[in-house]
Amino acid sequence: MADYAAIIVCAGKGERTGLPYNKIFYRAASKTVLEHCLDKFDCPKIVVCAKNDIERLKEITANFSDVTLTLGGDTRTQSVKAGLKLAKDYKYVLIHDGARPNISKKLINNLITACRQNGSAVPYINVKDTIIQKTDNSFSSIDRKSLMAIQTPQAFDTQKLIKAYSEIDAELTDDSQVFSKVWGDCHYVYGEDSNYKITTSEDLLMFSQKSSCDYRIGFGYDFHKLVKDRRLVLGGVDIPYEYGLLGHSDADVLVHALMDSMLSALGERDIGCLFPDNNQEYKDISSLKLLEKVVSILKNKNADINNISITLMAERPKLNPYITKMKENISYILGISSSLIGITATTNEGCGTIGRGEGITAMSVCQLKL
Ligand code: CTP
Ligand code: MG
Repeated sequence: MADYAAIIVCAGKGERTGLPYNKIFYRAASKTVLEHCLDKFDCPKIVVCAKNDIERLKEITANFSDVTLTLGGDTRTQSVKAGLKLAKDYKYVLIHDGARPNISKKLINNLITACRQNGSAVPYINVKDTIIQKTDNSFSSIDRKSLMAIQTPQAFDTQKLIKAYSEIDAELTDDSQVFSKVWGDCHYVYGEDSNYKITTSEDLLMFSQKSSCDYRIGFGYDFHKLVKDRRLVLGGVDIPYEYGLLGHSDADVLVHALMDSMLSALGERDIGCLFPDNNQEYKDISSLKLLEKVVSILKNKNADINNISITLMAERPKLNPYITKMKENISYILGISSSLIGITATTNEGCGTIGRGEGITAMSVCQLKL
């Protein structure tokens, strides 16, 4: 189990965006800014610090089992302090602005790895523009090589950060400043240009334009023969029937089509290449175990599932009573709500191979967001 918690601060008002509501509720690609953030954190506890619209936040976070809501304060510092009370039992803590929805899983992993070695890890990027300092009577340029633009999430040894916050009284806009005042310089890790903080209405526009384009579609198909003395497993559900599907693994035709659609969307090779049927490791294996491996391939490529649509073609047995359980099994392994998984079943009206009950076909379409 991961040894870190995340705190996402969302208790601001988002006034500079000009929106009549908090910017964390702004939607792009059918998700709020906050949901874009939540999707990226893979840890046992995520504390969301919020102030208003608590009912709405409860609805949004209900789909995320690892989220706890807490009341933030009038300043960012107070919101972070409130979050730390709930994260204190984890060795490390990542503190993130809810207004940075483009954070990548890769950067989160880099930061937590660096924090384990150094006690802190703070992302920064170089400043690209010329910076001019204005005083009462002059304008002078600052050497941009000496400047670092600081981002979140910032990762810390939790107890050290709690101690720093207990000793520093000032209202600072950034946790690394609080930490370094007590423990000396932080460790810095190069961040990502795309991890900008949504602050103005132009940032909102950039976010919605970028979010609406990186979609990939994948299609998968599979067929297995029905024979005597085999289990019938579909979507990880054991279905009582006098015949079962023949195959090297448990022959779960639904999960096989699903995996191929996910791999195809990424441009990867199919399950026949990944899990060859002459490998004893996969003999009679539950296809849900193979699905876990495909999920880790998606994670490595920073791909999120947008939705899945599967059709089963079987003359017998009646599959309707088992579909809710199939959706639950798949939703658990993919880590997405079962409302994003559609499974339908149909007969072939007695025609052809399927109609004669000789086998079962599954087809799957998967949409990924990169
Ligand atoms: N934040 C917070 N509690 C506060 C103020 C800010 O949790 N009392 C959070 C914001 O929700 C945001 C992050 O700190 O995710 C960074 O702050 P900022 O970009 O300034 O957000 P807002 O304060 O919401 O925006 P604005 O200053 O334009 O009103
Ligand atoms: Mg603010």
